[in-house]
Amino acid sequence: MINVRFAALPIRWEQYELHLYNALAEVGLTDVTLSTDTPPEDTDYVIYAPNSDVQDFAPYTRCKAVLSLWAGVESIVGNHTLTQPLCRMVDPSLTQGMVEWVTGHVLRHHLGMDTHIKETGTTWDPITPPVAWERKIAVLGLGQLGHACAQSLSAIGFDTHGWARSEKEIAGVTCHTDIKAAMTDADGVVLLLPDTSATENALNSDTLAYLKPGAFVVNPGRGPLIDDDALIAALDSGQIGHATLDVFRIEPLPDSHPFWKHPRITVTPHIAAETRPKWASKTIAENIRRGENGEPFLHLVDRALGY
Ligand code: NDP
Ligand code: OXD
Repeated sequence: MINVRFAALPIRWEQYELHLYNALAEVGLTDVTLSTDTPPEDTDYVIYAPNSDVQDFAPYTRCKAVLSLWAGVESIVGNHTLTQPLCRMVDPSLTQGMVEWVTGHVLRHHLGMDTHIKETGTTWDPITPPVAWERKIAVLGLGQLGHACAQSLSAIGFDTHGWARSEKEIAGVTCHTDIKAAMTDADGVVLLLPDTSATENALNSDTLAYLKPGAFVVNPGRGPLIDDDALIAALDSGQIGHATLDVFRIEPLPDSHPFWKHPRITVTPHIAAETRPKWASKTIAENIRRGENGEPFLHLVDRALGY
């Protein structure tokens, strides 16, 4: 018998239980017990979400891996009690969701949709946008999500540039390891970096100044990637035309935060790419299958790099 402890909010258990059993059966695992209260010493795998009550992994002495339901692992990667392998969520539906969200928000800014939709019925004042290939878009982070989003933007025709730590080759995307080259004169920037000590404030007064005046910012990555005060200053000076922000240093975004009231900031409630139980369960099940067969886990987190 394989014992799996599901460590996430109770609402998630209701959403996941059936899908997990189905996905485990699909990979040939029928001798699995899933529970929200498996005793630590009996637990073979932990399925983890950041807001769960399991934060001390020391008692999980026979646990073979901790399997995150989230793609971003900043809340667990520095946990010193965690000695087990940590795998993060990578799943095609998460990627597809992010591609749709990013593409939609980039197109909103590119096409000037707000201007035209707001003015419908009162004025007839069309503003012709440039075509996509006349716009440079910088995607910061070219991992599972950034790679797919950059490809989607490139397929539409945007002059798409990307930035990552290591060198990349992505068809249709000009890849850089120098952030200045990626961002200089860009009409818009999309942040798909993980939250690590090396990426904190990647968007700051210096890097915002690389962009073309009036450029837009789209952040579905993590709140700490942006220096909030620098962003507000850049919006107020006109260096940034609009920012669409899905993630924040504190979530939910506190009522008193100036982002809520800023006329050129759009706030969305950490909705860019939801982990969908039906699909995410397949990733979890495959990793349990691998663990049971002594095969390497997928999507292992590099604890030193933090992602
Ligand atoms: P990956 O780990 O696959 O990709 C991360 C990318 O960031 C890689 O290309 C990596 O470079 C690059 N990177 C990391 N550190 C640096 C650095 N110091 N300098 C330059 N580039 C760096 O992550 P995903 O694409 O799967 O996810 C990205 C983030 O998206 C998650 O960490 C999470 O925070 C966020 N997210 C948000 C969601 C939402 O709903 N808002 C949903 C899911 C995820 P390299 O390739 O060289 O390693
Ligand atoms: C994630 C997220 O990291 O939803 O999966 O942000």
